Amino acid sequence: MKLIVTGGAGFIGGNFVYYILNRYPEDQVVCVDALTYAGNMETLSGAINRPNFKFVKADIADRETIYALFEEEKPDVVVNFAAESHVDRSITDPELFLRTNIIGTSVLLDACRKYGIQRYHQVSTDEVYGDLPLDRPDLFFTETSPIHTSSPYSASKASADLLVQAYHRTFQVPVTISRCSNNYGPYHFPEKLIPLMIANALNDKPLPVYGKGENVRDWLYVEDHCSAIDLIIRKGRVGEIYNIGGHNERTNLQVVKTILKELGKPESLIRYVTDRPGHDMRYAIDPTKIHEELGWLPVTKFDDGIQKTIQWYLDNRAWWEHIMSGEYQTYYQKMYGNR
Ligand code: NAD
Ligand code: TYD
Repeated sequence: MKLIVTGGAGFIGGNFVYYILNRYPEDQVVCVDALTYAGNMETLSGAINRPNFKFVKADIADRETIYALFEEEKPDVVVNFAAESHVDRSITDPELFLRTNIIGTSVLLDACRKYGIQRYHQVSTDEVYGDLPLDRPDLFFTETSPIHTSSPYSASKASADLLVQAYHRTFQVPVTISRCSNNYGPYHFPEKLIPLMIANALNDKPLPVYGKGENVRDWLYVEDHCSAIDLIIRKGRVGEIYNIGGHNERTNLQVVKTILKELGKPESLIRYVTDRPGHDMRYAIDPTKIHEELGWLPVTKFDDGIQKTIQWYLDNRAWWEHIMSGEYQTYYQKMYGNR
């Protein structure tokens, strides 16, 4: 099987590339990534020399380039991870989110229509369902929960989901959609909560907690997300949406305190800062459908996953220090400029 994996130089896409290369040596992976600030060739350094891996620097919203790529590669499956993914950035610059997350998705769908495909998989998010109240722990998002977005990021992801469903209904493009809760693990860009807190704690810098730190997120170890997507593209039913989550709800403050404790750093590093506008209170996924239909279950509990993640950031200091110092931006040119 030949897969186009978009956004593979980012956090989850990069983990997915390794997941596929390690489990299916007979598969071919073509990674398409525009290498925005969030894309990093260092993430792919363990893949780049493998014979069944190819990297193409391209923007998914660039129709001509994407069509040419499909014509040349003739992929069986497309898994679309490419996105602007940070809620805070969507609040300061919404337009870029519309271009990549909506127009980019529509270009990929048109390419699938034009050149034919066995499966187009859209990697979506639980944020399309909006949030749940803190005082109703009995409530969870199911696949039939209404779309009710809060941020420009979640609105752009929901728009993309609607387009994907429309292309299935109108043009019979064989699609699936997954909506996952917050991921954590290796290669997570240090602007998101968990890697930022680990990096700041290691540098004895203040840990900025929005509001009172009581917002709840449902954390999933990234490899469990990859195993779910893998099952969906191979065994999931066309036209279906699958929620992915592992019932690992924690308040932000619990997460931050766990990180400080694991690193032996004092809680006095915590700084409460002005809240995010429109800040969603609680996300919580009901993963019954993917469990019952495809037999998926997460294997990593939060307490183990956070330890593994912290250890990865300790062992791979250069990876995140390059990002934080901006050095990685010259990496691609240095590595591939003369090829
Ligand atoms: P990320 O920001 O780490 O990576 C995004 C990647 O997409 C980067 O490599 C970037 O260079 C690339 N990209 C951005 N714009 C592009 C464009 N126009 N053309 C080609 N490539 C482009 O994001 P992530 O956290 O790995 O998220 C991946 C996907 O998973 C996103 O679609 C996101 O909405 C979804 N998701 C993320 C989470 C999470 O917790 N991180 C949870 C649920 C769903
Ligand atoms: P984030 O990692 O940005 O993911 P998302 O907003 O998509 O859930 O943030 C996770 C939670 O952590 C969210 O409630 C916002 C909060 N947060 C902070 O309190 N401080 C921070 O510096 C960041 C980046 C996030």
